[in-house]
Amino acid sequence: MTNPFLIKGYLSKEFFCNRVEELKELERNVKNGIDTTLISARRLGKTGLIMRLFEGLKGEPFELIYVDIYASRTQSDFIKLLIEAILKKIPPKTTIGKNFFSLLKSLRPVISYDPISGEPQITISYQTAVEKEYTLQGILDFLEQHPQKIVLAIDEFQQITEYPEKNTESILRTYMQHLQNIRFIFCGSDKRMMTDIFSNVKHPFFASTQFLNLGKINRDQYAVFIKDSFARNGKHITDEAVDLILDWSKTYTFYTQSVCNMTFSISGKNSDIETVKKACIALLKQGETVYLQYRKLLTPGQWNYLIAVAKEDVVRKITAQSFITRYDIGTPANSRRLLKALLEKELLLEIQETHAVSYQVYDVFFSRWLQMEY
Ligand SMILES: Nc1ncnc2c1ncn2[C@@H]1O[C@H](COP(=O)(O)OP(=O)(O)O)[C@@H](O)[C@H]1O
Ligand SMILES: [Mg+2]
Repeated sequence: MTNPFLIKGYLSKEFFCNRVEELKELERNVKNGIDTTLISARRLGKTGLIMRLFEGLKGEPFELIYVDIYASRTQSDFIKLLIEAILKKIPPKTTIGKNFFSLLKSLRPVISYDPISGEPQITISYQTAVEKEYTLQGILDFLEQHPQKIVLAIDEFQQITEYPEKNTESILRTYMQHLQNIRFIFCGSDKRMMTDIFSNVKHPFFASTQFLNLGKINRDQYAVFIKDSFARNGKHITDEAVDLILDWSKTYTFYTQSVCNMTFSISGKNSDIETVKKACIALLKQGETVYLQYRKLLTPGQWNYLIAVAKEDVVRKITAQSFITRYDIGTPANSRRLLKALLEKELLLEIQETHAVSYQVYDVFFSRWLQMEY
């Protein structure tokens, strides 16, 4: 029996909860030639949603290309990953693939196949910056000429701001304006960075993409999904146990999936609150080594601040005297400084609400562990 609660990757829609509205919106955009920018905090389900979209579009006349640029450090890496993603969908043995390959020929690419996955890998040595720009343009032109419409999803897009070459964004912007055949989906987790890339006044073109802010999965629908997934595998879970899962994991997709996965794996025919509690303890134990590493890497002041935020669960006014006194933070300026440092390390998460912002420990399990230990 496979565990129905995935904690990485994507299998098929049976393992996927809800996202009906978001899916409709993405599909509508793709079919109407609108580019989309998909943003959320890490681990809420962006990549999963793209995979789900692709599954739904399988029967439709689109070539679906997905590229994750998380591992890229330079513009050359970006181009390489893009080429590999294209070759995966348009193999070099086909006529169109041959065209693609001849386009790359001047770059003298070396192609090899990963011995385990069998996927094509490519090595290119560039001479100049112009050559890179030219290559990128050539790739986009090729996709523009493709007989089928292309959906090109670029995941972890904020990564381009890390490249030493600062012109990746402007190259894309310049060429994208003329493209008719490609629907882009830009996907990223660093909200501030993505917002900056996409709505900066100096970059009006990017503002023409439609923003889709992915939130948490609807609690009631998640509850139904959890009960059904247990039932499908001949198991039962009580309503109270499901409630506890959703409370404790804050309905935060990855963490909820993890608690469900663990509960399912340690359960017999029936799961109740006690089963869930055991699962939670097991998960915190698994994380402990990493949490203790954090303590070593942070200053005592930062560590103390993390505990403070965890204990409050959610902090809205970080300069409030009550908060500062209760946790020995010192001064409002100190509080701001610590917050900034911990946001940069992505240990704290800033949540934009309609009329306010609030702060939480980014990793839900870490937050639960701090609450338990201190
Ligand atoms: N709608 C969903 N239903 C069930 N599991 C999901 C759903 N969306 C994402 N997941 C799972 O949650 C985890 C985190 O999702 P992921 O798509 O990787 O997040 P992100 O790309 O935003 O960091 C993955 O293990 C994924 O399988
Ligand atoms: Mg992702």
